[in-house]
Amino acid sequence: MRHSWSGFGIFIGVAWGCATATLIHAQTSGEVDSPQQFDRTHTEGPGDVKEGYESEDYVTRSRSLLKRRGIKKDLIRFAQNPPLGLPPVPVPAGNPLTRPKIDLGRKLFFDRRLSINDTFACATCHIPEQGFTNNEMRTAVGVEGRSVLRNSPTLYNSAYLTRLFLDGREFSLENQVWQPITAHNEMAAPSIGWVVNKIKRMQDYDGLFEQAFEGAGPSILTVGQALASYQRTLLAADSPFDRWHFGNQPNAVDDAVKRGFSVFSGKGRCIVCHTVSKDHALFTDNKFHNTGLGYAVSFDKEIGPETQSKTTRVQLAPGVFVDVDNKKIEAVTQQKLPNDLGLYRVTENPNDRWKFRTQGLRNIALTAPYMHNGQLSTLREVIDFYDRGGVANELLSPLISPLGLNTQEKQDLEAFLHSLTGSTVPEIVADAFAAPIGDLSAHDPNWAHENTLGIEQ
Ligand code: HEC
Ligand code: HEC
Repeated sequence: MRHSWSGFGIFIGVAWGCATATLIHAQTSGEVDSPQQFDRTHTEGPGDVKEGYESEDYVTRSRSLLKRRGIKKDLIRFAQNPPLGLPPVPVPAGNPLTRPKIDLGRKLFFDRRLSINDTFACATCHIPEQGFTNNEMRTAVGVEGRSVLRNSPTLYNSAYLTRLFLDGREFSLENQVWQPITAHNEMAAPSIGWVVNKIKRMQDYDGLFEQAFEGAGPSILTVGQALASYQRTLLAADSPFDRWHFGNQPNAVDDAVKRGFSVFSGKGRCIVCHTVSKDHALFTDNKFHNTGLGYAVSFDKEIGPETQSKTTRVQLAPGVFVDVDNKKIEAVTQQKLPNDLGLYRVTENPNDRWKFRTQGLRNIALTAPYMHNGQLSTLREVIDFYDRGGVANELLSPLISPLGLNTQEKQDLEAFLHSLTGSTVPEIVADAFAAPIGDLSAHDPNWAHENTLGIEQ
């Protein structure tokens, strides 16, 4: 059961999110030999298992962090032989996948020392057990609590994206990495050279780049190539839907899912943008569309009945709720959802205002909240949003209009979306838990946070 999302959610989300970040980084980096020791319930959702939290009888099932161990996996095999439902992985000729590169990329991905003050890794926003996104924040928060424009998207299956970021401003995973590393409100490294120098001076990287890149050391090229290689292995498919639809297993899903897929591809018209091919499905056309959500924020319009309630239900403890006046919440909310013109920011073509890239829907049950700004908390809210025809505006996509779905159809559609969680997820998360996390040591160039990297002042 997912707790409800709200304006207040952003407010407490900051505190929660930081707590989560700490949780992630407190995980042991020890490797475990026996797969039985890995508990599946800890591969999904926030660190604390919240199922049943709305009831007074809730008993925590969370375990001590030290017991939450990882198991290193051989992720390259996912990329070499993608799980059912995914096409072959496109790998650039200049950056063939190898185990040493993937291992190095994984080490970099979890390493907080790539940020200006050794606090933020990629994994702090793309949290493995939260679908490589962040379930607790609508829009991301970076170093020192700085606000980021958008919701952290999942990195599962990002290997297939032809345009990166929700406004499509990047084209390759190799180049993409430098944006979050150097963005002032994300990891805030002062420059690319600063990061490269720092990695060169961290003893635990000695020889790793040279081994992965035929003698080449850390550089703008190799850091990007290593991180891209790790991300290319994050392939989550072979879901119940895939087994039924592509694997000819009639019993892999129940009837609600089957009916839901009919709504998805028929009356709901979702499939027009969230595409399904003959032998695989990425659920995205990799194109940009205006659903009206960005427009509604720009013009401060309501997006639907669920946002018009005057109060927000906030849970204080198991079984204890209070209804808080929205005005009070707004008074303490630091920032409203930011104005975001989407693709227009890249093209400056007025017709591109509020267009965002279609997101893939695989593993969607793991990656709430939804849309570019995390404004919709649950899949049901997303379905209701489309059912109403998005938000009318002069540039609304002609492919979006009211659907007239009945309650049964909505439930079925939701069941279908829940059937898209890949069976490879627990393995990828288990592997992530085994990654080294970049603890600061007395040997590190940034020790004592002087940020000098050993360079004379
Ligand atoms: C402060 C939080 C934060 C950190 C740290 C962060 N990201 Fe992200 N990431 C985001 C957000 C937010 C977006 C969406 C931004 C946008 O669309 O403009 C994003 C987008 C991406 C995308 C594009 C995904 C897509 O669907 O287009 C990739 C790939 C990615 N990040 C990888 C990384 C890597 C690799 C690192 C570490 C080097 C990293 N991120 C660090 C928040 C973060
Ligand atoms: C006109 C193209 C189009 C159609 C039709 C469409 N979508 Fe989308 N969908 C998008 C785009 C574009 C986004 C990203 C919007 C954003 O980030 O604001 C998106 C986002 C989503 C998301 C959130 C993904 C995430 O990770 O946050 C879900 C869930 C979703 N769509 C489900 C559906 C369903 C269900 C239907 C059918 C009822 C549907 N979509 C119809 C284009 C479309």
